[in-house]
Amino acid sequence: MYCMVTGGAQGIGRAITSLFLQRGDRVVVLDCLDAATQQVSSLLQEGAEYVMCDISSAASVQQAFFYVDQQKIRLDVLVNNAGISRDALAVRMREADWDAVFNVNLKGAFLCSQQALKRMMVANDGAGHQRKPAYIVNMSSVVALTGNAGQAAYAASKAGLIALTKSLAHEYANRNILVNAVAPGFIETAMTQRLSDDVQKNIFERIPLKRFGTVEDVAQMVGFLTSGRADYVTAQVLSVNGGMY
Ligand SMILES: NC(=O)c1ccc[n+]([C@@H]2O[C@H](COP(=O)([O-])OP(=O)(O)OC[C@H]3O[C@@H](n4cnc5c(N)ncnc54)[C@H](O)[C@@H]3O)[C@@H](O)[C@H]2O)c1
Repeated sequence: MYCMVTGGAQGIGRAITSLFLQRGDRVVVLDCLDAATQQVSSLLQEGAEYVMCDISSAASVQQAFFYVDQQKIRLDVLVNNAGISRDALAVRMREADWDAVFNVNLKGAFLCSQQALKRMMVANDGAGHQRKPAYIVNMSSVVALTGNAGQAAYAASKAGLIALTKSLAHEYANRNILVNAVAPGFIETAMTQRLSDDVQKNIFERIPLKRFGTVEDVAQMVGFLTSGRADYVTAQVLSVNGGMY
């Protein structure tokens, strides 16, 4: 399969990329990190393709999909994984931070889905529900379901992603394009390392499995959804949170 992973240069996206490569897929990573960074060179060494892209810009996303078109290969999987957080209490939230979070987490996922869907629709073989499935997986978050003090913008953008997931799933079910969301709990990555010890301790106490999640825990769920063993699953939110919610 040919898979695209946004934000695949590090963290959860990187683990998803590795899982796809290990199962023999071709993977193109879209990320805003400079191609000269160590993360990108290690990706290339592992066999991934890389296109530098700011998913919050329609022009940049279009440019990245030109690359895919040049490969003349069917795009089977899009994982909308890239995301940012700009945490602050609502009364102190700056407009620019609110916009940045929505532009990457929600608009970025929409822009990439729009381009991917156009290609998945025409490339699909067979008719209607008999077509070979294509997959979109959106990386939401447990806070989309629970809300979280200090994360109004992030949680709202991730909740929006769930509504986007369900809407696209309904809109393209007749083409056998399956659209699901994964909602991780607390996963050990650069994003969560920034949290204070107190906040981390607080979260830990709310996790019944008594460990933080790993990037591989999330990658396994994305792998399952795109494995061909979950082809009657669409419009769903799959939680990977150690029982937190
Ligand atoms: N880590 C967690 O506990 C956790 C929990 C729930 C959900 N998530 C979600 O999982 C996803 C991955 O999180 P992570 O912890 O691996 O984050 P991370 O910060 O380690 O990695 C995010 C990646 O996205 C890229 N990126 C950011 N903005 C971009 C843009 N405009 N265009 C292209 N690429 C961009 C970054 O360069 C980076 O490589 C995010 O959507 C995040 O919200 C993470």
